[in-house]
Amino acid sequence: MDGRVLVTGGAGYIGSHTVRRLLQNGYKVVVLDNLSKGHTWAVPLEVPLVIGDIADIGLVAQTIRQLGVTSVIHFAAFSLVGESMSDPRAYYSNNVAGTLRLLDAMRVTGTSCIVFSSTAAVYGEPARVPIDEDSVLHPTSVYGRTKLAIEGMLEDYAAAYGLRYISLRYFNAAGADPGGGIGEVHNPETHLIPLVLQAASGRRPFVEVFGTDYATADGTCIRDYIHVSDLADAHILALQSLDKQQKGVYNLGSSQGFSVRQIVSTAEGVVGHPIPVVESGRRSGDPAVLVASNVRARAELGWNPSMTDLEMILRTAWEWEQNRPRT
Ligand code: UFG
Repeated sequence: MDGRVLVTGGAGYIGSHTVRRLLQNGYKVVVLDNLSKGHTWAVPLEVPLVIGDIADIGLVAQTIRQLGVTSVIHFAAFSLVGESMSDPRAYYSNNVAGTLRLLDAMRVTGTSCIVFSSTAAVYGEPARVPIDEDSVLHPTSVYGRTKLAIEGMLEDYAAAYGLRYISLRYFNAAGADPGGGIGEVHNPETHLIPLVLQAASGRRPFVEVFGTDYATADGTCIRDYIHVSDLADAHILALQSLDKQQKGVYNLGSSQGFSVRQIVSTAEGVVGHPIPVVESGRRSGDPAVLVASNVRARAELGWNPSMTDLEMILRTAWEWEQNRPRT
């Protein structure tokens, strides 16, 4: 805990929640964010915010040296599956090439510890659920392939240069820090829960349900929604675990699956009125069911997600939807 933690993408959704948790746990932090997706309001005033790119080796090395950085939590990335299919170059450039340069800035400064934001998208269409970390890695999207490429890069840098890393494969991040003044704001918004709640608040006329003919109980896709504050906790534990282990890969999910229809009906209970829904066709690339086994993260990191009740997750997201900055 001696040095400072560099949080790339710390002005984004999961990054800003992790910055809060780091501060609560007594860590010193610096955020590096190019603000292409992040928001300055999401970074606490007491945290230095360096506006710039992970690909800028000079800037990253200077930040590391000047602010005494000893470890990195790396969120900065493009993360939209659909967009990755239509603009793969942007994803390979920003995610893969950008991370390569970040790792090189770490090498030249002798910074050896990194916690990396990976994704359930590395599994693609899973052969079985719940999905454990030894499942086949066969991403069906460019986004998933960029994250898997980075996982490989970390493994190779660990073997050759002694890098210490943890890859955290997130399932569906959801909710907001209760009372924390931060939450999910993507532009454009593509994620189910914020879209459902925007339809509830009248900011949108309706929410679309993408596909009602999946081989699930109610015909809609099942996902594993995990509260963003529980995700943030896992990053602290992962950082601490790098004192004891050189590398690790962990799924972060609740191990419970909910269908799109269950999300809508539970949200209706939270907001207290019906939410307008329009049923439409499948969104390309969506697997029917993605549910994590989180056994390894519990056993090895001591992770114990506490906000796993769907209604509670939706309550925190609803509170945020009503109070968020209007963009
Ligand atoms: N959905 C709708 N209507 C919408 C938006 C989404 O029905 O307007 C459905 C999707 O089809 C999917 C579910 O709601 O079945 C969840 O969709 P999200 O877009 O909220 O999340 P994804 O599961 O597609 O994506 C998440 C992360 C990605 C990550 C992926 C891993 O956001 O970064 O999980 O599979 F790659």
